[in-house]
Amino acid sequence: MKVLLVGGGGREHALAWKIAQSPRLTKLYVAPGNPGTAELGENVPIEATDTSALVAFAKEKKIDLTLVGPEDPLAEGIVDRFKSAGLRIFGPTASAARLEADKAFAKQLMRQYSVPTAEARIFTDARAALTYIDSREEPPVIKAAGLAKGKGVIVCGTMDEARGAVRDIMQKKVFGDAGDTLIIEERLTGQELSILAFVDGHHINIMETCQDHKPIGDGDTGPNTGGMGAYSPVPIVTAKMHRRIESEILVPIVDAMIRTSNPYRGCLYAGLMLTPAGPKVIEFNCRFGDPETQPLMMRLKTDLLEILDAAVENKLDTVQMDWDDRAAVCVVMASGGYPGDYEKGTPITGLDDVKGEADVQVFHAGTKEVDGQILTNGGRVLSVTGLGKDIADAQEKAYGAVSKIYWQGVRFRKDIGDKALK
Ligand code: AMP
Ligand code: GLY
Repeated sequence: MKVLLVGGGGREHALAWKIAQSPRLTKLYVAPGNPGTAELGENVPIEATDTSALVAFAKEKKIDLTLVGPEDPLAEGIVDRFKSAGLRIFGPTASAARLEADKAFAKQLMRQYSVPTAEARIFTDARAALTYIDSREEPPVIKAAGLAKGKGVIVCGTMDEARGAVRDIMQKKVFGDAGDTLIIEERLTGQELSILAFVDGHHINIMETCQDHKPIGDGDTGPNTGGMGAYSPVPIVTAKMHRRIESEILVPIVDAMIRTSNPYRGCLYAGLMLTPAGPKVIEFNCRFGDPETQPLMMRLKTDLLEILDAAVENKLDTVQMDWDDRAAVCVVMASGGYPGDYEKGTPITGLDDVKGEADVQVFHAGTKEVDGQILTNGGRVLSVTGLGKDIADAQEKAYGAVSKIYWQGVRFRKDIGDKALK
């Protein structure tokens, strides 16, 4: 099977790593990929959002299956374009990707189909939004409804901050059109959980549990990032809770998509809060999580191409997924200054020292290779992932490798997985 993987982050390196192990694979292309994926397949210099060029490439190379990592091409309709060209692709149509790309749509659908989620109001008028805030007792969470590169959510500490966020988003348009519609939502408390599932329109194959670490600083302090690390499994989630999440959240939302003639096929990612009143949806993403995918791919034993192939044929029910009983911990190593401004082009040392280390994978994200030297080239640079008999052991593996890798200004959290040990 010839496969095209679209994207170039740590998530895509992990997917490429897993796909490269499949006996079904004959050739893997990654567009645009990164120095990590270059070792597993052939990188193609086409940007993930250049749909026309990707369609042309897939036709020319007679690609059997395309898998898309990032949300932007999905929201822009890459799946629709591939399908009309008669090409097989795993991912949601633009209309189904609205579950992530339009938070107002997702909120209304959840409400209509009784999917547990934070109480929220939707506004298109800044004055009405400000008046509503004045009527509230607790500082809310303010969200731009559209895609804002993962930055459109402000968890407010005070009412003034909430008012400021409304003005920034709706009047100053700091997120552009993404802020034309605004969601004001109750703040939920509890631990966050990422639940990912393969969906073929009707059938759901739920993956193992995973927890991300969004804030930049240890102890969940400082501004939110794309994710500073993740681990799997999440011990606080019992098998019973896992089933409850599937039946109370995934089944009704997949069913809602069918009933509204908008079936969902692709990876469905539910960002949840485990509140005292039960699991509630914070958001849906229409793609694999980054960095959640890194530990999940380390634990998935089933052939990923078998799963994706079945999903594209609407036969996910014929695939039984097997998972490694061991735990995986992924530590993201980032550039100094991230999530704010940071330098690029800094040489990374130590990568050769950890190569071939048992049960450790270093997935590349923001890196580039110049004359055989790997340099930093983004905010999140590497996802160092360890597999161990339990979370503590996996932590040891991951942090052991992290300690051997260095560049000027490198930063990473030192507590990834600690919540699982408490
Ligand atoms: P999102 O982009 O929707 O995942 O939001 C980013 C982060 O903001 C989430 O991972 C949570 O940490 C936080 N967040 C979003 N909505 C809420 C909420 N209703 N209550 C508490 N925290 C939230
Ligand atoms: N790790 C968060 C995300 O992929 O959105």
